[in-house]
This record gives sequence, C-alpha cells and structure tokens, in this order.
Amino acid sequence: MKIAIIGPGALGCLLGALLFEAGEDVGLVDYRPDRVALLRRQGLQVGTPAGGTRTVPVPIGLPHEVAPADLTIVAVKAHQTRAAALDLPRLLAAGGLALSLQNGLGNLEIMAEAAGPARLLAGVAFLGVTRTAEGQVILAGQGLISIGVPAGSQVSPVERARVVGAFTRAGLECRERDDIEAVLWEKLLVNVGINPLTALLRVPNGALPELPEAWDLALAAAFEALAVARAAGINLTVDPEARLRQVCVATATNRSSMLQDVLAGRPTEIEALNGQVSARGAALGVDTPVNDLLTRLLQALGQAGPFRVNCQ
Ligand code: PAF
Repeated sequence: MKIAIIGPGALGCLLGALLFEAGEDVGLVDYRPDRVALLRRQGLQVGTPAGGTRTVPVPIGLPHEVAPADLTIVAVKAHQTRAAALDLPRLLAAGGLALSLQNGLGNLEIMAEAAGPARLLAGVAFLGVTRTAEGQVILAGQGLISIGVPAGSQVSPVERARVVGAFTRAGLECRERDDIEAVLWEKLLVNVGINPLTALLRVPNGALPELPEAWDLALAAAFEALAVARAAGINLTVDPEARLRQVCVATATNRSSMLQDVLAGRPTEIEALNGQVSARGAALGVDTPVNDLLTRLLQALGQAGPFRVNCQ
C-alpha cells in the first residue's frame, strides 16, 4: 500500500519511520523546503528513553513531489488542517483513503469539505512521542491506534482491515472501532486535562497527578468535556479521573504535545481541544468555565511571546 503522511511532527515522523521499517511504500509530506532538504540529508531519528537511537531514511517531499497514495494520513497540528486538506484531492490516488490521526475535534469536518466524506477514516492515536529536534523523536510510551468510519464515510471493512494490517505490521497496536466518535471524545477528555496544564506549568505528564491544584483543574476540565459529550448524545462510559491518571502514568516522562509546542514557540492546539469543549458547550447550554479559562490562558501565553522576559 502506498502511504503518504502529511506533517513531519512527532507523530508523523514516528509513523513514517515505523511504517518504512515494516516495508511499506511510505513518504512524508512537508510544506517547508528547508526542512525537506534537512530531513533528506539526515533521515529520521527514532530514539527510546533509555538512549538508543536509529536512523531511518524515510523519503520526504513537498506536496507536489509525493505521488498519489492509497492512504494519506493527516498528522499536522489542528490549526494546519485547512492548509493540509487543500492538498488531499491531489495526494489521494483514485479510491484512496484519508485518515486523520490528529488531536481535537473539527479536523474531519475540514477534510470532508476539501475531499468529501466518503473516503475518510477517523483515527485516535495514544502514543507518548516527543520531538526533540526536526526529524528526531523519542517514543516514551507504546500505545494504541483506533480507527473507524466517521459520519458519511463509505470505507469498506476490507479497506479498513488493510489499514489496521499496515499499522500492526509496523509494530503498533491498532484496533477498529465502530464507536470512533466516542473514542475521539475519550481522547479529548484526556487532552483537555493534560495538555494545557502541562504546557502552562512546564511539567512532564507524570508530574500532573502529584500537583494537587493542577490535578483538580485537569479533572474539572475533563469532567466538563464529559458533560458536553453527553449533552451531544455521545455515549461515553469512561471514568475521567481513572483515565487521566492511567495516561499520566503510561506517558510519565513524556512532554505533552502542547508543552512541546509552547517550548518551541509554536502555536498550540488549544482551540481544537479546550476551545471545542467551550464552543460546543455554549451551543448545547452546558457551562464550561474551566475550559473557557484554560483556552484563554493558552491564547494569552501565545500572545505574550514577543514580550517575555528571559529567565535564567
Ligand atoms: O497530546 C499529547 O501529548 C498526547 O495526546 C497525550 C496522550 C496527552 C500524551 O502526551
């Protein structure tokens, strides 16, 4: 199967490397010519927390340089989905599938606007992966990829099984779910709790349950998201506290993706995470004060960049 992965961030690099090593015909897609040149020269580097690193020569190109694929994985940050989606019609071979493995809500709707809903797959990746430099990632916690068909998709069971097979051969645990919308919300509960607080406090995921005030806020954000999900008719049976604790323990040494963005001075995914809980809560008449405040704090953190004093 020919696979294109849009976005050489932490997730894109990791998937690219593992799928390449498993023998898939995979190519990374990037929009920055300077980074394409760099990653072509150095290859991708995949490390473990114990220190071992290997170099994987995954092909990479600008969107027009990558041949149409049977499966295009969208692995860009949520605020880049609109730009990435514009390339989907060209990157998809006839009958090709587009899979979002992004955090947050709203990505699939944007992809459907650009490429139609029929060939879309929704996915949720629970992988504790940290990008330490361009093209360099550390896999801190093995996890699970869930895939399923979002509303309007006509991807057949055989096609879904091929996608699951590719991830499984790459050593990733991958399961098909018929309730993928609930899985997306379940991941959202985790992200709205862990991501903004680890980013504001600059701590790894494992520190969060040890910090009583921060932990309270993380749980409050997750419980608000649960209330919004239920008001939206999503059948979520998860216990937010147990789930957050489990993820913090499983990815204890990991820096959340939002902390990585803040440390690198990049825009964060706050609007697609806590911002979506606030927006959907407002539309459904569910109060979400903690998510509202966390959204505004992260927005303020982003705006403060040019004014920040240097701390030693
Ligand atoms: O966004 C993230 O960082 C990840 O989704 C997770 C699971 C919180 C682990 O860090």
